Amino acid sequence: MYNDNPTLVGLTKIIDESKQGEALTGVEPLEANGKSFYIESYGCQMNFSDSEIVASILAEEGFSATRNMEEANLILINTCSIREKAEDTVRRRLRIFDKLKEQKPEMLVGVLGCMAERLKAKFLDEEKLVDIVVGPDAYRDLPKLISGAEDGQKGVNVLLSREETYADISPLRLDSNGVSGFISIMRGCDNMCSFCVVPFTRGRERSRNPFTIVAEAQDLFDRGYREVTLLGQNVDSFKWTNPETEAVTIFAQLLEMVAQVDPLLRVRFSTSHPKDITDDVLYTMAKYKNICKYIHLPVQSGNSRILELMNRTYDREWYKNKVDRIYEIIPDCAISSDVITGFCTETEEEHQDTLSMIEYTQYSMSYMFFYSERPGTLAARKYEDDVPLEVKKRRLNEVIRLQNQISHNLNAKDVGKVFEVLIEGDSKKSDQDFKGRNSQNKQLVFPKKKGLKPGDYCKVKVKTSTSATLIGEIVEG
Ligand code: SAH
Ligand code: SF4
Ligand code: F3S
Repeated sequence: MYNDNPTLVGLTKIIDESKQGEALTGVEPLEANGKSFYIESYGCQMNFSDSEIVASILAEEGFSATRNMEEANLILINTCSIREKAEDTVRRRLRIFDKLKEQKPEMLVGVLGCMAERLKAKFLDEEKLVDIVVGPDAYRDLPKLISGAEDGQKGVNVLLSREETYADISPLRLDSNGVSGFISIMRGCDNMCSFCVVPFTRGRERSRNPFTIVAEAQDLFDRGYREVTLLGQNVDSFKWTNPETEAVTIFAQLLEMVAQVDPLLRVRFSTSHPKDITDDVLYTMAKYKNICKYIHLPVQSGNSRILELMNRTYDREWYKNKVDRIYEIIPDCAISSDVITGFCTETEEEHQDTLSMIEYTQYSMSYMFFYSERPGTLAARKYEDDVPLEVKKRRLNEVIRLQNQISHNLNAKDVGKVFEVLIEGDSKKSDQDFKGRNSQNKQLVFPKKKGLKPGDYCKVKVKTSTSATLIGEIVEG
């Protein structure tokens, strides 16, 4: 779910490393103030979700959205700090905004998101043309900061909150396909994985009132959406205590509540931390047909010593048992992963353990990275980043090659099978074809059939496959 590169895609895409989020459209302000904003989003799906909250806050203020940054009065960039490369991309974009601002000095530039949180006021010294810096928990303060900046006062609000969940703000679904929507169910993270900057940029973990989550899912369904993805850095530790009754809602219960909105509403969730996903969650998945049989279960490394240094709190055996349990309870489940190569002190043998874990689990896909040291993290303070860059990259290539081979083989095994597919829209290559996904989150492409439209379900028989796509035809509409 991450994205460091400067190609542009719509907001609702599940993000991979080669893609990049960008301009929101479709925002009609309640009462226009004559000003427009342009927003670009980088990083994980949660950041994209936050941009929809920001768009909603700005629309309330009378701003309209534009895809054209040249005509915007306000340019916002919602940033990611997860790897050095993500931050480099943002700095490059800021250079471009600087050039625009030289021609149009009244235009305001704001930095939002994780990088704003990491660099705080330092941003205003480093990037002289930035007017406002706003952290992920301070978006309600945007109107005040913008009007201050219009009066020439640069503004910063990077306060992290223990309570903010933006539960009452209805996100503006922008650049959406009208079929799949994302719902943030929690914010922050309390797991101190030693490599990770998220606990520093997003603050403490807090869960959102489940009734507002269900209401949002219902609202999406009523507007024609047929799939929701519940988002959090660690969804399985969702825990909400009703302030009046003290009753506690945990993730398995939330999942069931959302699944009950309508059998035609597919439910997905991301991300699951292997230490927290419970049998209850797996049984709930098995019980409801509309809960998709797909779990993103990042392993990071297949070696117990490295996992310990990473502070992931599980070891190789524990992870393998979790995988066994998933396939036992949900035999048709697909599992995907995140993998980091070349973490501090990783030996060749330990890297082999990661390869054998990929082989063991048979991931349908993985997001794969080489380790990038992040200032301030536990690993940066405690361990030496001592694996040479070329070794990290070579190991990454080995991981990618193996994963591609496995995805290819798994997809080849799907040839001849019939899947229920939710139609999402035209395929990228041809407007004669639809694209959609099956429960296991695999992408299918197939010729259109009269009478069917995005948001409809159909049965597709797979004819051929590549490592990324299943190609088939509708057997039942
Ligand atoms: N909450 C999710 C992950 C969020 S960050 C989880 O715990 O699984 C997304 C992914 O980026 C991580 O899973 C990890 O694989 C990768 N990542 C995080 N920090 C990184 C770093 N310093 N270098 C390389 N990859 C990193
Ligand atoms: Fe980062 Fe770990 Fe939290 Fe995921 S669980 S966001 S990797 S600290
Ligand atoms: Fe990046 Fe922040 Fe998400 S660091 S991955 S945008 S939580």
